[in-house]
Amino acid sequence: MEKKENYLPIIIESLIFGKNSDYPLYIRSGENYILYRSKALIFSQNDALRLKNNGVNRLYIKNEDKEKYDNDVLEHIENIVNSKDLGFEEKAVKIYIYSKVYAEYVLTTGNLKNNKENIKKTIETMIDYLLISEFAFMNLLNLSDYDHNEVSHGINVSIYAMSLANRLGFTNKISLFEIGLAGLLHDIGKLKIPKTFLLKKELNENELKEVQTHPIYSKEFLIQNNMENNDIINGVLDHHEASDGSGYPFGKTEENISTYGKILIIANRFDSLTRSGPYRIKLNMADALNQMNLNNDLYNNAFLTEFSLLMSKKISLSHSPAQEL
Ligand SMILES: [Fe+2]
Repeated sequence: MEKKENYLPIIIESLIFGKNSDYPLYIRSGENYILYRSKALIFSQNDALRLKNNGVNRLYIKNEDKEKYDNDVLEHIENIVNSKDLGFEEKAVKIYIYSKVYAEYVLTTGNLKNNKENIKKTIETMIDYLLISEFAFMNLLNLSDYDHNEVSHGINVSIYAMSLANRLGFTNKISLFEIGLAGLLHDIGKLKIPKTFLLKKELNENELKEVQTHPIYSKEFLIQNNMENNDIINGVLDHHEASDGSGYPFGKTEENISTYGKILIIANRFDSLTRSGPYRIKLNMADALNQMNLNNDLYNNAFLTEFSLLMSKKISLSHSPAQEL
């Protein structure tokens, strides 16, 4: 029997409907992987629906076919934003799905090396979408699940951070990309921390210290992966600091917190408050924003004001999707 390590899970919607793939697809049944579609057979939207109706959320490909799959996806991603066949919201759905595919690979395995190009393309596509209109980010966020989930947390922090940065005047795509990447990877150091600590309600002193070391682990991870950009590294390192010095791991104060860090602190806090976790009940967006403004000593005030303005628009429009301007 073939081993589990030989197969990679893929999100069904990431397959390109109507296209005959160059590789076979498998279904997992217990410990076994069963051939579902041999290569060259077309996979349609109806097939996807049928699988979903049967409670199947993932298909599998063999590890050796990952490159072919990635090439298909990358070719497709590039065309989403400019596609004439997809509506503004449909584009958001596709982009969110692909960001999930690669965020999931990286954030659950820590394997950034083999996914650098995919992550880069995904964030660049998000930026192209976000720049269509100031409130385009809302459509991407509408697709997030707000449960305790490191993958969607990484994606959301990335989206909030890029949207805030854009509003603050970081309009060139290189800065937006750096901020988006820092947002996506800020918690990757948590992979080094025992899962039991992360899910526990009450931690003892040593456990808490270990959990609060994760920004340092994230920094180390980036350096091990040949990251040389200090703005990204420092942004990630500072994402739990606070302007009044009450944050961690170093208790830095406003003047010593990096600019990307100041953005990530706000993005991270807002997404954490609005999602459920092992030790908190999630707040709605308006309450989260109020709570942050009541504790504004923790944040760069100018950035918080801009974020509040951006998000109050989202809150007031939360039942109607953003339109293309
Ligand atoms: Fe964190």
